[in-house]
Amino acid sequence: MNADARLDALMGVMEAAFDPYWREAWTRAQVASSLALPHTRSILVDVNGRFDFRTPSTAAGFILARRVPGEEELLLIAVKPDCRKKGIGTLLLREFASSAKHLGAEQVFLEMRDGNPAERLYRSEGFEPIGRRRDYYRTTDGTTLDAVTFAKTLPV
Ligand SMILES: CC(C)(COP(=O)(O)OP(=O)(O)OC[C@H]1O[C@@H](n2cnc3c(N)ncnc32)[C@H](O)[C@@H]1OP(=O)(O)O)[C@@H](O)C(=O)NCCC(=O)NCCS
Repeated sequence: MNADARLDALMGVMEAAFDPYWREAWTRAQVASSLALPHTRSILVDVNGRFDFRTPSTAAGFILARRVPGEEELLLIAVKPDCRKKGIGTLLLREFASSAKHLGAEQVFLEMRDGNPAERLYRSEGFEPIGRRRDYYRTTDGTTLDAVTFAKTLPV
């Protein structure tokens, strides 16, 4: 897939996966400008768990990530609602960790709003909480939520 088709695939998942209440979804323009930067990448997976698929509409999930020397940060992870609880999120996180290591990372990080049920997935993949930013997120009704930072040291 070329860059435009990848963006279509990613945005198809983005629009289906995020509840607007949490204000976590990115716009197409935000994703495009982020991916235009060096060291930012996306990982896409389809409904069959394949990373090398060709049809944007069959995308089931994505990860958006940004790296600096020795580290990579997961910016977003999402799986379409009708594709959840089948291991696709786990598959994406494993691909993220192994490709981050291949690209030179020793540690990977992510940040989530306090209470996101995705915490169970992160912990099961070896991420541990290392910090908290108070009142970092604000929902559509003005409720504030802490951000919790998780880290995972990649095996040598
Ligand atoms: C988080 C998310 C990517 C998980 O995708 P997924 O494909 O369902 O993940 P998996 O099938 O690999 O699930 C892995 C484990 O985490 C649990 N889990 C994942 N998401 C869960 C949720 N929303 N509620 C409860 N449990 C959840 C699963 O039950 C599973 O555990 P189990 O195997 O012991 O049952 C998906 O729920 C999602 O897109 N959520 C909305 C976007 C979001 O909040 N992203 C995180 C912030 S960027």
